[in-house]
Amino acid sequence: MACMKNYLLPILGIFLAYYYYSADEEFKPEMLQGKKVIVTGASKGIGKEMAYHLAKMGAHVMVTARSEEALKKIVSDCLKYGAASAHYIAGTMEDMTFAEQFIAKAGNILGGLDMLILNHITSATMEPFAGDIHFVRRSMEVNYISYVVMSMAALPMLKQSNGSIVVVSSMAGKMASPLVAPYSASKFALDGFFSSIRTEYSVAKVNVSITLCILGLIDTDSAMKAVSGVLNAEAAPKEDCALEIIKGGALRQEEVYYGKLGWASHLLKNPGRRILEFLSLRNYNMEKFINN
Ligand SMILES: NC(=O)c1ccc[n+]([C@@H]2O[C@H](COP(=O)([O-])OP(=O)(O)OC[C@H]3O[C@@H](n4cnc5c(N)ncnc54)[C@H](OP(=O)(O)O)[C@@H]3O)[C@@H](O)[C@H]2O)c1
Ligand SMILES: *[C@@H]1O[C@H](CO)[C@@H](O)[C@H](O)[C@H]1NC(C)=O
Ligand SMILES: *[C@@H]1O[C@H](CO)[C@@H](O)[C@H](O)[C@H]1NC(C)=O
Repeated sequence: MACMKNYLLPILGIFLAYYYYSADEEFKPEMLQGKKVIVTGASKGIGKEMAYHLAKMGAHVMVTARSEEALKKIVSDCLKYGAASAHYIAGTMEDMTFAEQFIAKAGNILGGLDMLILNHITSATMEPFAGDIHFVRRSMEVNYISYVVMSMAALPMLKQSNGSIVVVSSMAGKMASPLVAPYSASKFALDGFFSSIRTEYSVAKVNVSITLCILGLIDTDSAMKAVSGVLNAEAAPKEDCALEIIKGGALRQEEVYYGKLGWASHLLKNPGRRILEFLSLRNYNMEKFINN
């Protein structure tokens, strides 16, 4: 035990120092120039702002959501802002067949894929949970299962391009959050799934980065309406938020924290979990699953 202490603590120290202080490569908008990018939930809010940033950076942009009219307008704006190309495919992410076919069609139109930004959610109001199982199921399907379906459909293209999956989550996906239990559960599911496959990819040397974005309150119309009179918190601007998500994806960061979070972001990073994830890897026989 004494011997364990002697080398474990320094190793952990180095690990944590690396995790928290490793200097990031600098972001340049040119990183997105000519890149093929999908943004879901792009008819309004943060998704729409991401599409506009990507257009200004000269990316090939593919957007989706249900509202066809809104998407049409966004595509024409994207072209005005300088997108290398801009397209939309409308449909609902309640339908997993649509989710899968959307990726195939998008891949054909774009001619490959560099970045998959998963951002859509089914709309929710803030209220104590009163037993609506249909809503729990819809939240899991739209906010979580469709993300998995699309990621798996896109994986062959992303492997080819050394691409990136960017998953938009929330503080409610890292901590208990009353009045939004079904939403919170779906966001926790994203963390469990995507953080786990990130570990698999790192062991198997699959060079597809996974970025989980933990957002505080953002000033989108839907969020402002949902929190009104229920939650007292300062909202951060959606335009800036959209840019930080794209930066995190382009820099292949594991997590992005954005919002008026203050110290909360440091506390949410949960070093205990990080240490356990790092140390527990040794207990697995991962070699068994690596193709040779
Ligand atoms: N805003 C915040 O305060 C906040 C905080 C933390 C995390 N986040 C996260 O940030 C992301 C974006 O939030 P936001 O505030 O920008 O949301 P938003 O403005 O409400 O936009 C949601 C998008 O999802 C689409 N959508 C809704 N239902 C859909 C369905 N069944 N199938 C396909 N698309 C659907 C909507 O378009 P249609 O209605 O046209 O389908 C819309 O484009 C979400 O993942 C959210 O959890 C936001
Ligand atoms: C992907 O990364 C590998 C290893 O770094 C490299 O050999 C390959 O050229 C890259 N492919 C693309 C399309 O960037
Ligand atoms: C993974 O892909 C990125 C982006 O193309 C590249 O910069 C990096 O060198 C690759 N890493 C490995 C280990 O192949």
